[in-house]
Order: sequence, then structure tokens, then C-alpha cells
Amino acid sequence: MRKPIIIGNWKAHKSLVQAQAWAQDLVQNWPQKGVGTEIVLAPSFIHLAFFKDFLSKKNLPIKLSAQDVSASPEGAYTGEVTAPMLSGLSDYVLIGHSERRNYFKETEEILKKKVERSLEAGLKIIYCVSGAQMAVPEGVTIVGYEPLFAIGSGKPDNPENANRIAGEIKSKYPAEVVYGGSVKPDNAQDFIRQSNIDGLLIGGASLKAQDFLEIIKNAV
Ligand code: PGA
Repeated sequence: MRKPIIIGNWKAHKSLVQAQAWAQDLVQNWPQKGVGTEIVLAPSFIHLAFFKDFLSKKNLPIKLSAQDVSASPEGAYTGEVTAPMLSGLSDYVLIGHSERRNYFKETEEILKKKVERSLEAGLKIIYCVSGAQMAVPEGVTIVGYEPLFAIGSGKPDNPENANRIAGEIKSKYPAEVVYGGSVKPDNAQDFIRQSNIDGLLIGGASLKAQDFLEIIKNAV
């Protein structure tokens, strides 16, 4: 089996100073024997360049992800961050998070465009859905199963149910499935033990470097 993939999604949190403090905290608490998971960090766009430089200087095996990407190509679209702008900076991109769908009214049509642009730019896609009935565009290699009731609520899905849904997603799409929704250091292992769950997508608990590391340690 391949290593579990642990993804930290900071959402709209942290100034540059706070991001730098988190990074220092991570280095100071990094396990001496190394880590047994793949790690992906999705900070705000504005922190990607800092982290790219920091991670290579410290030689830490962490990949970066953007939290979103524009559906537009490069061009006169003030304020947008396009897929070609991310290439070389970020390996992954999160697309279709329920917060993007709900608060920013991103439709399936918009999400499909985001996927296409990202694939053209060579980004790997973590595509979020809240259930197995939702469509996953072609080219997606990681699906994040995040039930709406579990996001930020402190009430995670039942691990067996999450496993069942991850299995349904896998029967429809050739992708790995990560579970997200109120994952904490004390429940990470319950999810990672499930046969259809290949990793975890972590919001709130990724904001403290020590909690994030605790999840990483518990997820092997
Ligand atoms: P949470 O968020 O861990 O804070 O529940 C997960 C997510 O929305 O990716």
C-alpha cells in the first residue's frame, strides 16, 4: 500500500508572520525518525512562495497545494490566480471545496473548467465532493470526501460510513480518496485504518503545527 496522504487546508487563515511562526514550530517539532506519510500543505496563495523557499531550505518532504485556481486562462482578469501562474510553485490544487461551491457559487461547469486548466498546467487535483453521487471530472487523481455536516463542526463522519462512501467513489472513478471533516489527532487513525481511505484532508487541526504533526504521526 502506498503511504497515506495527509493534506492540511488552512482556508482563509494566517498572516505572513503567523505562517512563518507555524513553519518554525513545524521544524522544531519534526520527528527525528522522519515521517511515514506524504504531506501536502494548502496555505493561502500569498504564502506559497514563502513555503516553497522555506521547505527547500529546510529540506522538508512536504508538497504544496493551492486552495483554488481560476477558471480563466492567463490574461486580463484582475485579481485571478491562474493555473499557469501556479505551475512551478504548487504541485497540487484543491478544486470544488464545499465552501467554494456554497459561498462563491461555483457550479459544476466552472469546476470542470478549473480542472481542465489545472491539468493543462500539470497540477495534480484534489477534487472535493460531499457524497458519492457527485460528479468527478476526468483527470482527477485524488477525491476528497467531505460530508457537509462534518466540516468544521467537531462531528466527523463515522469511519465505517466514510469507508463505504470512499469505496463507492472508487468504484466509479479511478482515484484515491481522502476523508475530510473534523479530523483531529485523536480520530485520525480511525479513518486511516479503513481500507478505502487513502489519506486525510484537515482544516482546523492543520492550523497548529503540533496538532498537524500529531495527526501525521498517528496516520501510519
Ligand atoms: P475541518 O475542515 O477539518 O476544519 O473540519 C476540513 C475541510 O473543510 O477541508
